[in-house]
Amino acid sequence: MLSLAVETSCDETSAAVLENEKVLSNVISSQLFHSEFGGVIPEIASREHILKITEITESALSLAGRKISDIELISATSEPGLIGALLVGLNFGKSLAMCLNIPFLPVNHIHSHLYSNFLGSKPENYKFPFISLIVSGGHTLLILAEDFFKHKILGRTVDDAAGEAFDKAGKLLGLGYPGGPLIDKLALTGNISFHKFPLAYVKNSRFDFSFSGVKTSLLYFLKEINFESIKNEKLLSDICASYQNAIVSSLFEKTLLAAKENKVRDIKISGGVSANSGLQKEFRLLEKSGYRISFPEPLYSTDNAAMIGLTGYLKYKHSDNKEYFMKDSLNQNAVARLDYENF
Ligand code: KG4
Ligand code: ZN
Repeated sequence: MLSLAVETSCDETSAAVLENEKVLSNVISSQLFHSEFGGVIPEIASREHILKITEITESALSLAGRKISDIELISATSEPGLIGALLVGLNFGKSLAMCLNIPFLPVNHIHSHLYSNFLGSKPENYKFPFISLIVSGGHTLLILAEDFFKHKILGRTVDDAAGEAFDKAGKLLGLGYPGGPLIDKLALTGNISFHKFPLAYVKNSRFDFSFSGVKTSLLYFLKEINFESIKNEKLLSDICASYQNAIVSSLFEKTLLAAKENKVRDIKISGGVSANSGLQKEFRLLEKSGYRISFPEPLYSTDNAAMIGLTGYLKYKHSDNKEYFMKDSLNQNAVARLDYENF
């Protein structure tokens, strides 16, 4: 089955063409200009998606060597994300599906990060159960994935997401936006024991995360050492390494505990923060104790339409009411917040 997918939930306009589970093309246009404002400006993001979506879709089709009339299924992100941005891709996808009279699959962006771990591997290797740690710019979730679309949320952040903790630190350190990749790079040459940034433990919950405290402790630390006046490359690297280590330790400890308690040996990590080299290093060490650790390919860790396409296709394939996607799914609205109850 040939499918076309679009993703416009935040600041990436992306389109992909897939043949069943296999990615034929995946084109991504990142709105880099938001860094000038220190964060994504929703209104500008939506307008930019409108300008780009047709051109990006055409190049995905042409790279795959297919025509729009060859497409048999359309997937588009419907939630969660910036409403105006979501509406662009969602309505673009709905319109195409209506014109072509083919199924329309609204896709949950967070599901698609979870399934991004399958991209590039053969369908016979799609195995359950596994523990999924999803660490993106807006979400941090610990999930027990029992089967296709059978997900149990074990834990989540009670305040900031891990990606947000990186991005806010990036601003405090004067590095720019997004802070995650910049901190990661600087941390490579820094000393993780330079300073102990405290990790907040969430009361009465062993699997929930809290990242707003670590950011505040960085703020106070920078004031205390009068950072602006003594700032140098070595100090910056040491702060980045220690700060990153605090976030990574929290993610690592809770994920490992969840795997042990659920007697699961497969751990799959996804979302933008999964590209972090400190995080990857820490989790990879578990392979020595028999755990199977997987990260999406770097191209699939941040937002992309290939993961939307795979998730839409899998949702269709495993649905016992395929008729729903011919008409009723066209009523799907864009939803800003993640629905934790019906995940
Ligand atoms: O999944 P994603 O592309 O977008 C959302 O769905 O939110 O994640 C973006 C987040 C940003 O917070 C960015 O700083 C973070 O992923 N990120 C990283 C790295 N690369 C991207 N954080 C830490 N280390 C990285 N190497
Ligand atoms: Zn994302």
